[in-house]
Amino acid sequence: MKKRIGVLLSGRGSNFEALAESVAAGRIPNAEIAIVISNREGAPGIDRAKSRSISTRVIPSKGLEREAYDRQVAAVLDENKVDLVCLAGYMRLLSPYFVAKFPNRILNIHPSLLPSFPGLEAQRQALEYGVKFAGCTVHFVDENLDAGPIIVQAVVPVMDDDTEATLSERILKEEHRIYSEAVRIVLEGKCKIVGRRVLKS
Ligand code: GAR
Repeated sequence: MKKRIGVLLSGRGSNFEALAESVAAGRIPNAEIAIVISNREGAPGIDRAKSRSISTRVIPSKGLEREAYDRQVAAVLDENKVDLVCLAGYMRLLSPYFVAKFPNRILNIHPSLLPSFPGLEAQRQALEYGVKFAGCTVHFVDENLDAGPIIVQAVVPVMDDDTEATLSERILKEEHRIYSEAVRIVLEGKCKIVGRRVLKS
């Protein structure tokens, strides 16, 4: 039986698209993207999913209390019998209810070398801090923001003439590569979590 992935996104959806490409190309074997859910109407990621004939759902979050909203999302993920939840530019904090419902089954991609620069505009934070290396992280999601055990990271150099846009573009290329790698590792059950460490098993 193929493992079923549910993707949550809020915007552009390039990380979703990279995952979809990897599934189609067999780089994530025995898997399918069962559903793409957005909390924002008009998220380009939803159109990208539709053009790949992947099921989509828009569940507007405006005005809803966090857990009430997450219960709606969880119900759609359950309906679609999802094994793994991938956050791909999903700009919402998850409720403890949601995190507890999918223990060690939610992944997130973040455009920094965590634990540096969590939160919004991570690439801008890195530039302003003056680090010489930046990167991205795929991690299991726990109840804290951009925390949780780290599965894969990738490093990129920061150039003297970088702008937020050029640095973001360099990082994004690596995001697209390591998200698929992390999903494959997790779905194949080739890792175990020991404390904060994710080790090969
Ligand atoms: C990506 O850079 C992702 O790492 C970031 O949002 C962008 C979404 O792009 N996520 C976060 O900052 C989460 N804290 P995409 O919609 O093209 O995948």
